[in-house]
Amino acid sequence: MVRKAIIPAAGYGTRTLPITKVLPKEMLPICGRPALDFIVEEAIKSGIEQILIVVSRSKNMILDYYDRSVELETYLEEKDKTHLLKEITLPDVHFQYVRQSYARGLGDAILLGKHFVGNEPFAVLLPDEIILPHEKQPLKQLIDMYNEYQGNTVGVKQLELDQLKNYGVIKPELLKSKEYIMKDIVEKPQESPPSDLAVIGRYIFDPAIFNYLENLKPGLGGEIQLTDAIKEMAKDYTSYGLEIEGMCFDIAKTSEYVELINYICGPRGKHQP
Ligand code: G1P
Repeated sequence: MVRKAIIPAAGYGTRTLPITKVLPKEMLPICGRPALDFIVEEAIKSGIEQILIVVSRSKNMILDYYDRSVELETYLEEKDKTHLLKEITLPDVHFQYVRQSYARGLGDAILLGKHFVGNEPFAVLLPDEIILPHEKQPLKQLIDMYNEYQGNTVGVKQLELDQLKNYGVIKPELLKSKEYIMKDIVEKPQESPPSDLAVIGRYIFDPAIFNYLENLKPGLGGEIQLTDAIKEMAKDYTSYGLEIEGMCFDIAKTSEYVELINYICGPRGKHQP
């Protein structure tokens, strides 16, 4: 059973400067809610019970958001505004936090979750990508596939050729509709990507991934790349890819951020995830 999830939220948010100098990218508002809260909701609706958020020095706002504010609760009660208490109800999940002291990359951030995870499969959700489900939650789609095949499973989507250089890209072998064996994976291929299936920030891992992360040398950009650990592990254990159903929005891209907000709460946006 996949009960635990890691959400890495330690990055500087360079793609969304200057606001991310003071506001964590994960806290960018979407109709009054921080982006991160959509990811937390997806995790909970997919059956996750414990979440480890990897933060860094400037991310205390995330801890505050998921903590009680007794002062605010008292104020709302005193001022006869108790109907607003539901707006600050905490999600029904256990949170833990760890700080990443050095910006050594995504793989290093996930490695910090080793003790939290222990010896069970776990999920990773990258908070840049908000995916609005058609029916089943994106993470639940992956969990169901993991439960069937019992191997590392990454969420992918088809992208245009010029986009692929910004993502991890898998070399797929079709199993059945939307389901693939991952023969290989390449981080941000600058030329000749192995397919048009890009990794979109949802993963289920066997805990053995930590052995691979621990033995990695810095990869692209001098960082410990999660993709490199997935690649090495795929040589030893059959690994999988699943085309996730749902609408993806990368909130670090202004156009997609605006599109998401319009989609959810614009003049004609009635859709609530
Ligand atoms: C990371 C991963 C990459 C993945 C992407 C999805 O890259 O390294 O494989 O495709 O997230 O958003 P980043 O966007 O952090 O550079």
